[in-house]
Amino acid sequence: MVKHTIQGSTGTSSLLVGESIQNVSRYLPDSPVFIITDTVVANLYAHIFPAGQVISLGTGEQIKTLDTVASVFEQLITAGADRASFILGIGGGIVCDITGFIASTYMRGVPFGFVSTTLLAQVDASVGGKNGVNFGGYKNMVGVFNQPDFVICDLDLLISLPVAEVRCGMAEIVKHAAIEDARMFAYLEENASRAVDLDKTVIEKLVSDSVVIKAAVVNRDEKEHGERRKLNFGHTVGHAIEKTTGIPHGEAVSVGMAVAAAISEKRGLLTSEDAVRLTTLLANLGLPTIVDADPGQIVAALAKDKKKEKDVIHYVLLDAIGSCRIEEISIAELNASVRALV
Ligand code: GLY
Repeated sequence: MVKHTIQGSTGTSSLLVGESIQNVSRYLPDSPVFIITDTVVANLYAHIFPAGQVISLGTGEQIKTLDTVASVFEQLITAGADRASFILGIGGGIVCDITGFIASTYMRGVPFGFVSTTLLAQVDASVGGKNGVNFGGYKNMVGVFNQPDFVICDLDLLISLPVAEVRCGMAEIVKHAAIEDARMFAYLEENASRAVDLDKTVIEKLVSDSVVIKAAVVNRDEKEHGERRKLNFGHTVGHAIEKTTGIPHGEAVSVGMAVAAAISEKRGLLTSEDAVRLTTLLANLGLPTIVDADPGQIVAALAKDKKKEKDVIHYVLLDAIGSCRIEEISIAELNASVRALV
């Protein structure tokens, strides 16, 4: 087990890579525990959950709403949860996002932690203190920055994931390597098929390296005033694709990274060899780099991006493998590139 930490404005978050869900009680306070999970995770793992009242959600992005939050608030009130309670989210990114938001707002905030059960949640969603839900057609529009007390990344839980979900987690791993770590990128190139097969040594290194990168960025810019925007590489166009086509987040981010690499190349920042390295790696991991979608709809979704300021978006471009920069890009330029590439 390897421990990393985030020193957030709301407290220290311990990120425990390789820890087991069976040891979660070691990190829980001696107070009532309320577990928020989803039906799939409960069916697979309820027998190894710690003691506590279980609140089970449905699955899918469509449940990430204020209605779900309200329903959980009602269940917490009925069950007598108070400020001395602890809320534990056990699940993937959707469960962690909703749980963090509920714990941060119920009675003005109760302590919380996560056991993240998907690769995507372990390398991204559960780490870094972004908690929230979708609203009014906008992704993650309502939420808070608040660090969980701990995040347990139990690598053994990944075995039950469908391969499509493993690939989606790989997209966020590629993102971290592409923006920050050329050696990790080369390691991924050499070990792509072992990574998708969840080879223990490979996956442990990739999850740990990802958490190190994410924790370092969040430690320097928790509230995303500047550097944390790097972590949105591939996500601006990715979110628009996800919204308009309904393809999974990781696949949409994969296409978004390919678009960002093409724009980086067009702006003279990235060599065509490096752009090809990125798209080749994504393809070798079984991820898409193009999508069959209506560019007009994607452009319309981009125009509604919550990160837009006036008609400009802070967009993440690569200037090499393992190095990125944030530049302003006008909606008009993004539109032209998306129309050319999607
Ligand atoms: N997923 C991007 C971030 O946490 O900032």
